[in-house]
Amino acid sequence: MEMSANMDMKPNLDLDVNPSRRRALQALALGAGAISLPLTLRDAMASEAPDVSIRLVAAPGRAQVRRGRETDVQRYTAQVMHGRPDAVRPSTGYLGPTLELRRGERVRIEFVNRLDEPSIVHWHGMIVPERDDGHPRFVVAPGNSYVYEFTVRNPAGTYLYHPHPHGRTGRQVYFGLAGLLIVRDDDERKAGFPAGEHELALVIQDRRIDATNSLVFERSMMDSMTGVLGDTVLVNGVADAEFAVSRRPYRLRLANASNARIYKLAWSDGRPMRVMATDGGLLSGGEGIQTRPFVVLAPFQRVELIEDFGAREDGASVTLVSQRFRDPETMGGMMGGMMGGMMGGGMGSGMGGGVPAGAQGVELNVARFTVSAGPRVHEAPPKLPGAAPLLRRGKTELHTRVAMDMMQGTLNGRSFQMTAVAPDERLPLNEESIWTFSGDTTGHPMPHPIHVHGLRFRILERTAGAQADLREGLIDSGYHDTVLVFPGERVRLALAPTEPGLFMYHCHNLEHEDGGMMRNCWFGPMPVDLSMSRHPKA
Ligand code: C2O
Ligand code: CU
Ligand code: CU
Repeated sequence: MEMSANMDMKPNLDLDVNPSRRRALQALALGAGAISLPLTLRDAMASEAPDVSIRLVAAPGRAQVRRGRETDVQRYTAQVMHGRPDAVRPSTGYLGPTLELRRGERVRIEFVNRLDEPSIVHWHGMIVPERDDGHPRFVVAPGNSYVYEFTVRNPAGTYLYHPHPHGRTGRQVYFGLAGLLIVRDDDERKAGFPAGEHELALVIQDRRIDATNSLVFERSMMDSMTGVLGDTVLVNGVADAEFAVSRRPYRLRLANASNARIYKLAWSDGRPMRVMATDGGLLSGGEGIQTRPFVVLAPFQRVELIEDFGAREDGASVTLVSQRFRDPETMGGMMGGMMGGMMGGGMGSGMGGGVPAGAQGVELNVARFTVSAGPRVHEAPPKLPGAAPLLRRGKTELHTRVAMDMMQGTLNGRSFQMTAVAPDERLPLNEESIWTFSGDTTGHPMPHPIHVHGLRFRILERTAGAQADLREGLIDSGYHDTVLVFPGERVRLALAPTEPGLFMYHCHNLEHEDGGMMRNCWFGPMPVDLSMSRHPKA
């Protein structure tokens, strides 16, 4: 299955849909041995030098993931070549370093692929030009590199970067290729959030780790359907994460970088979760902080919490847990029955591979916080910024049916083709369109985290249908780039792309994405007909 997926990874050079000079550069960048040339050309084109220039390398490595032997991983390392030295911050375990950027800053990132397989980096949630978005048609062969140049347009928020080669994203993320990308701006500074050591980021992932501390990645037929799940939670690339905190408010950034796991995050002592930011940055003052008993975080979604550890006793210990919820896989039907039986048996193998321990919905400990002794520090509550102005509403409405027919996830019945775009996958620029995703109830119904590249969207409406024991933890206020669509539910999004060109939308369950539950979308006027018939086979 993976071999045939690899065939799709060859860059498609006949994609001459936008005959700009950038296109010419792309073609050059993809040519064998042409590395130094496009760099020089891009240099010559750049009207101004970047404020920050970073070299980001992906390579095999080893990391201390849990006690004992080091684990073989793939990992990102980064170095500031020019500009603010604090644009790159160290991370723990196998996690890539945190890239810390400022709104308005001009950034240049040279990605160097030292893996023995093709890769390309995507800045998840960032609004960047088409060429800088990490579409799989730009994959970089081993030993080659790719230069990204963009201005940071996103508001302050918590974003992620990760590989995006078609058919291998899940595997590369699983073995360690992911990192945080934090954007800061003035709105945020004025809001007065806890900062410095009182701001913590937790990148949450689940893994299967064997007795020799090796990461186990199995993609059986079953895993392709459910997505790869693990029984060990890693936070920032290490197991059994613990944080020492003082008796005061903290800003906590929570990012789910798991291949397939959905978390139902809550405090073990029952205090509510107070959400102040979502995927696309801070909630507005009008929306206000969202107080919930738990927060649902699907793959690659983010939230930020304001959490007052001062409300706890000296020396108290509180655990961020993922609460049990009904495994959406077992929603009845034949598959549900089969899986239930196999889970009961512990290690079924009827589907061509063992059922991973730690099914979707099991209770898990995520991280422990120990509150140090000392006087309680109070802080004025943060002032959330005003709402961003809305763009004028246009007439375009798209509908996409999200389905899982046993082994194959599809979007309106289609699966990924490297350069194909259908008429119902186009949006105009700079006006708000409506895109409705409906979760199919046939085949193998399950929730799918649907992600749209190149923009942030608002969730206008979610028709009743979300799983009952998760509904209360869905944060639909604010701006998002990934939304969980449940079977039998229609989710209406309002979105206004600003960058023209060929982007992607897909299920962010990485095994679904790699299995083809991904499509291109075209933003802006079509320069040439990009109908499916023109590219019958990508
Ligand atoms: Cu987080 Cu298409 O990606
Ligand atoms: Cu993305
Ligand atoms: Cu999916």
